[in-house]
Amino acid sequence: MNVLITGASGGIGKEMAKLFAEKGHTLILAARSEDKLNELATDLAEQYTIKTHVFKSDLSKSGAAEALFEQVQSQSLKVDILINNAGVGLFGEFHQTDLQKEQEMIQLNITSLTELTKLFGREMVNAGSGKILNVASTAAFFPGPLMAVYYASKAYVKSFTEALDNEWAELGVQVSGLYPGPTSTGFKDTAELNDSKLFKNGTMKAQAVAKIAYIEFMNGKKQIIPGGMNKLQSKASRLISRSAAANIVRKTQERE
Ligand SMILES: NC(=O)c1ccc[n+]([C@@H]2O[C@H](COP(=O)([O-])OP(=O)(O)OC[C@H]3O[C@@H](n4cnc5c(N)ncnc54)[C@H](OP(=O)(O)O)[C@@H]3O)[C@@H](O)[C@H]2O)c1
Repeated sequence: MNVLITGASGGIGKEMAKLFAEKGHTLILAARSEDKLNELATDLAEQYTIKTHVFKSDLSKSGAAEALFEQVQSQSLKVDILINNAGVGLFGEFHQTDLQKEQEMIQLNITSLTELTKLFGREMVNAGSGKILNVASTAAFFPGPLMAVYYASKAYVKSFTEALDNEWAELGVQVSGLYPGPTSTGFKDTAELNDSKLFKNGTMKAQAVAKIAYIEFMNGKKQIIPGGMNKLQSKASRLISRSAAANIVRKTQERE
């Protein structure tokens, strides 16, 4: 099967690419870092004798998702599995954070994810089969003071994913959500989280998150939460008020 993974140049996306390669899938890899994608594609193609395709794409730009869809179509590549993984965060008090960074985050985490799901998902619906994995976060379960836009963007991904699962399951298309907690990847640096307490309480390895995601997604699971503590936290979110949840999140994220 052909698998399109966004954000495959590092972190969770790169580890997912390795797992799909191991099982012999054709990889279609997208991100901004073309060199890193080419290096990964070459290594995996050699190691597993698979086909790979690389697309340089900045999904924080308006029109980029449609351009990616058209480029993939122009190479007559059918996407059987879409992994909407590319995403960024931003730490800071909302009145002080950079507006442009937040606009780009919304474009990447929400708009491009929605557009790619629409464009590739529609092809899957027409074919009567396909699978989509949207990478959200445990942040999707909570309001997120000090990362307000990021948490809200992941809450969008969760709601969108659950709604589409309801619409498309009967049309043959699986739509699943992945909800990782803090994971050691490049995310912490791009999100400017180095001053935050969030990543000081232990993180999962990207490899472990990807492995759980791969197995559960391919088995048809709709809500995938890697790690016992992350599962517990997402359950706890239903037992407390939203304002209590916001207070707790704020405490876990405050600068030390
Ligand atoms: N790490 C965590 O703690 C954590 C927790 C929960 C959820 N997540 C989610 O997991 C997903 C993957 O993140 P990660 O932790 O693996 O972080 P990462 O190591 O920083 O990887 C992010 C990936 O997204 C790509 N990307 C970033 N901006 C992009 C853009 N404008 N256009 C296209 N691709 C772009 C990056 O590639 P280029 O820079 O080459 O473009 C990279 O391949 C994200 O959706 C994130 O929100 C992460």
